[in-house]
Amino acid sequence: MNLLIIGAPGAGKGTMSELILDKFNLVHVSTGDMLRAAVKNGTPVGLKAQEYMNRGELVPDEVIHDIIVERLSQDDIEQGFLFDGYPRTKNQAVDLDEILKSLNKKIDCVINLNIEDEVLVKRITGRRLCPECGEIYNIYLKPSKKEGICDKCGSELIQRKDDNLESLKVRLSEYHKNTQPVIEYYEKTGIVKHVDATAGVDKVFDEIKTVLEGLC
Ligand code: AP5
Repeated sequence: MNLLIIGAPGAGKGTMSELILDKFNLVHVSTGDMLRAAVKNGTPVGLKAQEYMNRGELVPDEVIHDIIVERLSQDDIEQGFLFDGYPRTKNQAVDLDEILKSLNKKIDCVINLNIEDEVLVKRITGRRLCPECGEIYNIYLKPSKKEGICDKCGSELIQRKDDNLESLKVRLSEYHKNTQPVIEYYEKTGIVKHVDATAGVDKVFDEIKTVLEGLC
C-alpha cells in the first residue's frame, strides 16, 4: 500500500504518520524531515534549502525531485510507503506520477487532513519536538510530563525555527496557493479521502484507520 498524507502546516501530518506507520508497516518518506536532516548535516541540499525553510517558503521543485528519486531507489520502499508533505506543488505531483510509472508503482490513497487556518496557530507555536526520538509534543495541547523534556527518551525538547507566527503566515499562503491544487489534481483520480483533522488525535486516527482498513 502506497499512501500520501496532505494538509496545512500543523494539520497533524507528522502526528498521524507516526500512528499509521505503527499500525500498517510502511516506510515514512517526509520531505520536511529529510530537508531538516540535510540542513543539520550541512549537505549541498541542506545549504540550498535552509533559507527557504526558515522563511516558510517552499523549497524549489528540482531540489525535491532529486531527494525523492534518491529515496525511492532504496530497497525498503518495496514494503509500501507513506509520503508526508510531498507532493506540495502540481509540478511535484506530475513529476511523481512519472517517477512512479518508471518504477511500476502507484499511489493507492491520498489522505487529506481538513482544518481551518485559525486552529493552526496554537498547534504550530505550541509544538515542541524531541530531536532524538522524534516524539511530537505541544505545550498547550499535549505537554510533556516534565517541561521541556521528552517523556520517551529524556532528551531536551526543541522548537522548529519555522514554528513562529511570521513563518506560519507564509507557510499557510504557500499551502493555499500551491498545495491545494495538488488535492484537486488527485481528486480527478478518485483516490482522495477527506478527514476532519480538527478533532482530537485518537478520533482523527480512528477515521484514517477505517479508511485504510478498507483498502487492505
Ligand atoms: P514540513 O516539515 O512538511 O512542515 P509542514 O507542512 O509545515 O507541516 P508541519 O510539520 O508543521 O505540521 P504537521 O502537519 O506535520 O503537524 P504535526 O503532526 O507536527 O515542511 C517544512 C518546510 O520544509 C516547508 O515549509 C518547506 O520549506 C519545506 N518542504 C518540505 N517538503 C517540501 C516539498 N515537498 N516541497 C517544497 N518544500 C518542502 O502537529 C502539529 C502540532 O499539533 C503538534 O504539536 C501536535 O502535537 C499537535 N496536533 C496534531 N494533531 C492534533 C490533533 N488532532 N489534536 C490536537 N493537537 C494535535
